[in-house]
Amino acid sequence: YKRITTKSLIEMKSHGEKISMLTAYDYTMAKIVDTAGVDVILVGDSASNVMAGHETTLPITLDQMIYHASSVVRAVERGLVVVDLPFGSYQSDPKEALRSAIRIMKESGGHAVKLEGGKEIKESIKKILNAGIPVMGHLGLTPQSIYKFGTYSVRAKEDEEAEKLIEDAKMLEKIGCFAIVLEKIPADLAQKVAESISIPVIGIGAGGGVDGQVLVIHDMLGMNNEFSPRFLRRYLNLYEEMTKAIGQYAADVKSKNFPSEKEQY
Ligand code: KIV
Ligand code: NA
Repeated sequence: YKRITTKSLIEMKSHGEKISMLTAYDYTMAKIVDTAGVDVILVGDSASNVMAGHETTLPITLDQMIYHASSVVRAVERGLVVVDLPFGSYQSDPKEALRSAIRIMKESGGHAVKLEGGKEIKESIKKILNAGIPVMGHLGLTPQSIYKFGTYSVRAKEDEEAEKLIEDAKMLEKIGCFAIVLEKIPADLAQKVAESISIPVIGIGAGGGVDGQVLVIHDMLGMNNEFSPRFLRRYLNLYEEMTKAIGQYAADVKSKNFPSEKEQY
């Protein structure tokens, strides 16, 4: 295998090869995701929801993101590991943003960072890029701003927000981001963005006209049966499978079916 780099992703876009991306937050899952051949492994701040059980992504800390990222990095041999900068670790000023990005790179061994937002955080992104740290942008539904939006509904349906999104995407390309995530926006708009810039656009709930797709691993494996947005394709129903298996184990212990003669010393 050849290690995936930010350059490989840009090459994939230029010859029309779609990019696959999934989240992972721990060693065991990251090993599976990497072995299966996923190109980009995102240590998302969605860990705040799926790992820690918070309602939003806001509470997760930089230290917690570094813990998740370092576990993932130890497992991954091929994929590009991108790590989310969590809420509060980059919004106050560019120096703080750079310090946070440096901590992620040094303490986790991740390969790139992702930040939510456009022109509001332009100077912070430039500062991080100047230090030689690759940056992935994230526009559209940006969950760290959920209390500003009020809901998790589709973004940029109005012209004004769509115009700003296109401008932000062009700006992110111009200052040197290697890719952009577009979350939950109309497919036509996402395709228009992907066609107007040369860096890859990875969508989640952004249709098929972009350069790649990302999903949260727990969602696509069906480990979580409460979350069912239209964009989510479930490849397994692990919630049911695991509940069955674990229920069987508990019943076997009660009935003294486990352990058997062969399962003891
Ligand atoms: O945190 C996350 O999982 C993400 C993806 C949904 C893009 O940012
Ligand atoms: Na995220």
